[in-house]
Amino acid sequence: MDHAQLAALPKAELHLHIEGTLEPELAFTLARRNGITLPFASIEDLRSRYDYRNLQSFLDLYYALTDVLRTAEDFRDLTAAYLARAARDGVRHAEIFFDPQAHRRRGVPLAAVLEGLQAAVSASRDVSVYLIPCFLRDLGPDAAMETLGELLPFAGSFAAVGLDSAEVGYPPELFVDVFARARAEGLPAVAHAGEEGPPEYIRQALDLLRVRRVDHGVRCLDDPELVARLADEQIPLTVCPLSNVRLAVVPDLAAHPLPRMLDAGLAVTLNSDDPAYFGGYVGEVYARTAETFGLSAAEVHRLAETSVRASFLPPAARQRLLGA
Ligand code: ADE
Ligand code: ZN
Repeated sequence: MDHAQLAALPKAELHLHIEGTLEPELAFTLARRNGITLPFASIEDLRSRYDYRNLQSFLDLYYALTDVLRTAEDFRDLTAAYLARAARDGVRHAEIFFDPQAHRRRGVPLAAVLEGLQAAVSASRDVSVYLIPCFLRDLGPDAAMETLGELLPFAGSFAAVGLDSAEVGYPPELFVDVFARARAEGLPAVAHAGEEGPPEYIRQALDLLRVRRVDHGVRCLDDPELVARLADEQIPLTVCPLSNVRLAVVPDLAAHPLPRMLDAGLAVTLNSDDPAYFGGYVGEVYARTAETFGLSAAEVHRLAETSVRASFLPPAARQRLLGA
């Protein structure tokens, strides 16, 4: 399939951190607008740092650059730029992660973040959007619970809650009370698990946090019993192949386990994670994955269809997209 055919496929993006769509050009523009001096000499200098050893070395840069996001207008411009880009890739629905704690700790109130995100969402013509605030697992369960308390007055604005940031050493079991409270308040759960962390973290996300989807989940392949369960229950996995390459989860795209995941009957979706940092928005993810693995048109259609089915959209809306 060529780019135009791939872009014509209606798809949902289910694993996208809005902070991870901050392109270097916009980062410099916002820094200027907010009177911030970035610790990078130029856009080229910044781009030269986009070479990560692992998840943590990426997160260090990601959180540092996030500092240019100060006002509702900044979050609006960031989100509007992503939605315009996503629409060109045939994204018809996006479930967008954001990190409230990464902003609050810099003194940016949740209300400003939400005002900006929602302004862009309301103006979006071609892409419907659900928002998913994520807890930063490395800040621990007490901070997550406090953040949940701040989020709850806005609960109607969110499709779910999520869990992200540094994985190893911060197992899902730490957050069982936080996710139980979110669930009691009517918020379903998703969680990053099995990106760098072991299969046990995926089991905990399922059994203790009761997640409806697993973000990444690629390390399930280390545990055949878990693979069988994920396939049997058709738990969606939001897989991000370009992210996995850039964060050294796999040595290169050809070594990515996507074909094995498909062969195992897993409910795989393709996503971009942090496209400004990993070298490709979701259209590029589909194109490079299809090319690398020689996926058939039917297989690519299936991936796009699974993304719509795995969304939190109500069944009638999913059906409308699938029939489009
Ligand atoms: N936050 C942004 N991108 C992330 C990723 N790939 N894993 C965990 N936390 C993240
Ligand atoms: Zn992610």
